[in-house]
Amino acid sequence: MSDAAKLVLGEKDAELGIRHGTIGPDVVDIAALYRDTGLFTYDPGFTSTASCESKITYIDGDEGVLLHRGYPIEQLAEKGDFLEICYLLLYGELPTQQERDDFIYRVTRHTMVHEQMTKFFSGFRRDAHPMAVMVGSVGALSAFYHDSTDITDPHQRMVASIRMVAKIPTLAAMAYKYHIGQPFVYPRNDLSYAENFLHMCFAVPCEPYQINPVLAKAMDRIFILHADHEQNASTSTVRLAGSSGANPFACIAAGVACLWGPAHGGANEAALNMLTEIGTKDRIPEFIARAKDKNDPFRLMGFGHRVYKNYDPRAKIMQQTCHEVLDELGLKDDPLLEVAMELEHIALNDPYFIEKKLYPNVDFYSGITLKALGFPTTMFTVLFAVARTVGWIAQWKEMIEDPQQRIGRPRQLYTGAPQRDYLSLDDRS
Ligand code: CMC
Repeated sequence: MSDAAKLVLGEKDAELGIRHGTIGPDVVDIAALYRDTGLFTYDPGFTSTASCESKITYIDGDEGVLLHRGYPIEQLAEKGDFLEICYLLLYGELPTQQERDDFIYRVTRHTMVHEQMTKFFSGFRRDAHPMAVMVGSVGALSAFYHDSTDITDPHQRMVASIRMVAKIPTLAAMAYKYHIGQPFVYPRNDLSYAENFLHMCFAVPCEPYQINPVLAKAMDRIFILHADHEQNASTSTVRLAGSSGANPFACIAAGVACLWGPAHGGANEAALNMLTEIGTKDRIPEFIARAKDKNDPFRLMGFGHRVYKNYDPRAKIMQQTCHEVLDELGLKDDPLLEVAMELEHIALNDPYFIEKKLYPNVDFYSGITLKALGFPTTMFTVLFAVARTVGWIAQWKEMIEDPQQRIGRPRQLYTGAPQRDYLSLDDRS
């Protein structure tokens, strides 16, 4: 393919460079378009816009492929564990044994949060949504860890990254415990990342908590499946916030806020609520009809994706994990699972969904799995935030270390009033 594209504008034409990635579509470089032609491009929702160059994650939405640093998600989920994937996302390569041990040591030594944070938590209402508590408490980290907010210092950037991966589960578990009125449980560094998280969420001071290895493995896999997903809405939010030079804790808080929306990380909660509302298989056609009705805002939650126009590869692994968890807990006949499987079957054979290439996404089965693990729906998006933190921070670091990095500042197509003179009160009708 040629390395230039030509844009013809009446009598004039502009030459635009073409840039090639390792894999995936080439991109037209329009960085000089305004300077050369006086025109902006218009792309609401960024459906045709690459906002940055990145080496972290690759998605082929048509083929249903997800790679982290080149490794397929299926292999990472089957053979790796979450902290290894964190290392891979942050450093670019799978760790050697020594690197792995060292990384695990560093993360586990940062799992506690400043004790003053407990006072901060008690300022929230008990009935606050745990995501509201997360937005506030993650942002508050920048008020506690001043020694890792200098973004120009590579050492401080790495310390902030490790702190973030280590402390987010602690904050998430605290948000849960606060929500249900139980005492906070301190982290235990002898446990794995997923085991420690389950322990902080479900242990109580009055009796020992037994960790079920099948459930811990499922938790770890859920974290792996949500670890990163290239330039999605929350990651782009983190990058945009970070582009102004804001500290990493504040940037991740911005990501948590964006993730909360039902079109993004809130979809797992919405999907489970939807399955509960459907309730029985015989009501599925009614909901399918509503999803297809242009005049009804209802959508099948956990279906469709901006990038995947094929089965989301994470959804397949999630479906398998869901079965493993329900088998382990003796919940094979869970009515929600029955509704989900039938709904999936009907939708995948319906011309509306086939034509629009709407397939189940990762959130379709994650809700049922998380419910079986014992989490209330209000915690689902919090768990997504725990897992996605490493992706956010890896992308933030990559952006800060990119010599091309400039403040993110999109332009607009202005359709408001043209310039006019101020009207005094008497002249206004
Ligand atoms: N149910 C019914 N119709 C749908 C659905 C759905 N879940 N998703 C998309 N459509 C239709 C939509 O009405 C539109 O139809 P038309 O062309 O006739 O107007 C067409 O499909 C394209 O939809 P879109 O909204 O233009 O697509 P988008 O890329 O802007 O939105 C999406 C992607 C994920 C927001 C959307 O599919 C959706 O709202 N899904 C439900 C929410 C959900 O499950 N979100 C989780 C995403 S995966 C986790 C994550 O990455 O955060």
